[in-house]
Amino acid sequence: MADAVHTRRVFSGIKPSGGLTMGNYLGAIKRFVEMQSPDTMSIYCVVDLHAITVWQDPADLRHATRELVAAYIASGIDPDQSILFNQSQVSAHAELGWIFNCVARVGWMNRMTQFKDKAGKNAEKVSLGLYAYPSLMAADILIYHATHVPVGEDQKQHVELTRDIAAKFNHDYKVDFFPQPEPIIDGPATRVMNLRDGSKKMSKSGVSDMERINMTDDAALIAKKFKKAKSDAAPLPESVEGLKGRPEAKNLVEIYAALSDSSPEAVIREFGGAQWGRFKPALADLAVARLEPISLEMARLMQDPAEIDLILAKGADKANAIAQPILDKTYDIVGFVRG
Ligand code: TRP
Repeated sequence: MADAVHTRRVFSGIKPSGGLTMGNYLGAIKRFVEMQSPDTMSIYCVVDLHAITVWQDPADLRHATRELVAAYIASGIDPDQSILFNQSQVSAHAELGWIFNCVARVGWMNRMTQFKDKAGKNAEKVSLGLYAYPSLMAADILIYHATHVPVGEDQKQHVELTRDIAAKFNHDYKVDFFPQPEPIIDGPATRVMNLRDGSKKMSKSGVSDMERINMTDDAALIAKKFKKAKSDAAPLPESVEGLKGRPEAKNLVEIYAALSDSSPEAVIREFGGAQWGRFKPALADLAVARLEPISLEMARLMQDPAEIDLILAKGADKANAIAQPILDKTYDIVGFVRG
């Protein structure tokens, strides 16, 4: 079958559900920036269709969408090098999502652990969209024939489902049309934990603001949160193995490694045996040096929402130019008659 795509195409997305944290930055945005390169087509999406699988106030959604774009750009996503847009402006996502709803099996969806976690005991009351979410995610990736998908550990199962959907589509229609995308889960901080409890993910919805670093926090607050971060009684270990069973220590070392573009091994080489009284202020300084310029630039960009909307419109045009021919071809394969 023609149309096989051999170039490296990266796709990833983040939900504009408000409250971006350092976890989103280290675990996603920073890695997306690093994947920009001349031999890669990189497509980064603000997945607003995914956001409304749980209730979003419209004004808040608009604000969160623009703020996420500001975060992408302030962190180094170049809208001339990458395609940066919001999902709802490229209707091919929703259209291919429907076709995939008819390819994916209910049994597959029932195995999605994220749905089970999110729906919990409330499964009868959550939206049908939340249940179908992974099938739309498969469409996001495959509508570009993307080959690489940088995600956090929690999204691995969804990328595997995407591969199953691609394989079943190809098999059912006897084509070799959709590629098998690879999840890319790398870097020292693909799972940034909360600063008060190293067993829980850093999340915008955690009870205390002290447990997370928000991308909009100023320098003083960032420093304060790191200095008050929970640690333990022992000094830093002399080797990375010594971080086992010490979730808070491990998290802080991994954050330091990610912020300094190094590795936990390198951090331990520098700080092994150090007391927290030395490590935490160093971490606070590093975090301020890395994150403050981004939050200042985000604030500057947010002063001109019209400019952000223009960037999204241009990105959507570029995305559409890739997605539409793939959707047209899919419609042909499926047997939809078009005049
Ligand atoms: N489900 C992802 C998350 O919650 C967001 C997302 C939607 C995504 N579509 C995607 C990520 C496609 C990678 C590729 O983090």
